[in-house]
Amino acid sequence: MPVDVLVGCHWGDEGKGRYVDLLSERANIVTRFQGGPNAGHTLVVDGEQTILHMVPSGVLRPNVTNVLGNGVVFSPSQFAEEVSMLAKKGIYLTPNNMKVSDRAHIILQSWIDEDLKGSHEKIGTTGKGIGPTYLHKFRRDGIRVGDLFGRFENKPDGISKAREELSGLLKLLEPFVCDTVSYLNRSLDAGLYVVGEGAQGAGLDVDHGTYPNCTSSSPTAGGFCTGTGIGPKRIRDVYGVVKAYTTRVGEGTFPTELSDEVATFLATRGGEVGATTGRDRRCGWLDLDLTRKAYMINSVTKGCLTKLDVLSGLNEIKVFVHGNYVSFPGWSEDITGVREFGDLPENAQEYVRNIEGVLGVPFAYVSVGAERSAIISR
Ligand code: IMP
Repeated sequence: MPVDVLVGCHWGDEGKGRYVDLLSERANIVTRFQGGPNAGHTLVVDGEQTILHMVPSGVLRPNVTNVLGNGVVFSPSQFAEEVSMLAKKGIYLTPNNMKVSDRAHIILQSWIDEDLKGSHEKIGTTGKGIGPTYLHKFRRDGIRVGDLFGRFENKPDGISKAREELSGLLKLLEPFVCDTVSYLNRSLDAGLYVVGEGAQGAGLDVDHGTYPNCTSSSPTAGGFCTGTGIGPKRIRDVYGVVKAYTTRVGEGTFPTELSDEVATFLATRGGEVGATTGRDRRCGWLDLDLTRKAYMINSVTKGCLTKLDVLSGLNEIKVFVHGNYVSFPGWSEDITGVREFGDLPENAQEYVRNIEGVLGVPFAYVSVGAERSAIISR
């Protein structure tokens, strides 16, 4: 079976978690491939909210094995916290349904401190130690999960200190540690269906994003390959997640940012508060130039539009394309109960069709509410 990869097309917070949850209904495996606890994926099932930072969003499906791939930066303490949070909900992570790559790099406390001292203010990082951990990885003096358990020949400097720092977590961690590269490829050979879960978004990509105001990984389809060890030819579809407007947390350029009552409207109706940091997200009109670039560098084959319902009640809706604004008439109806595209107000349909026209790829799904079921499938 093939692999489908799901990626964010803005600066993160597009609502990816709910689409991973949707795809995982049929998936055997959901794997993250980059980033770490800087992500915040919010899932709502039967009115109950689950926020995940480290564990993949497939965890709410009992049929799914969740994998943290080699490209992830791994926080043992955040992982342990989620293991116990999920257990309280009756979801038990075991070595059968959860695997952590032996090659994933570990976030140590001193690297969190480094992040908080430096880039946290300058770039507005999440302060989770992401940048310093990737820095050590590429400087080739990082600590991998497998190093903690003597799985590799070479003993890195600082391994004793790392083991000491994480001594309380080693017992919990060890059963989950796995050669995920072999596991994933073997699973594909055996006909299983794998979904790749991107964190952050194309605008935060360290190569293609708004450098230096970006994250330290590649949250793109290309990053999926390096971050899992699955070759590009295995990928069938790339799902690009696009919010019906644009938001950003942290510093950096934001051409369509608003500071008027529309910004307040979007922030309030959209609940635009960072799931990881609690910071208010900056809000603005849909930036299709940013989105087009994301489609290009990811080879997006299927669009997923999110939060269309948030726009209900605006008289006029704008999108930014080729450096200019184009206006559309709004709609006033509550659309959260709509499940057929043709039942949306005519103006909402027009808005969606126009965006698709610019992007050149149809939306496979349009979400109209936070609840798992609030999705129009086309
Ligand atoms: P870092 O990933 O913590 O190093 O933060 C770098 C930049 O990416 C900051 O502007 C963060 O606000 C942003 N960022 C990181 N992860 C996410 C995310 O999951 N959603 C939205 N923004 C994020």
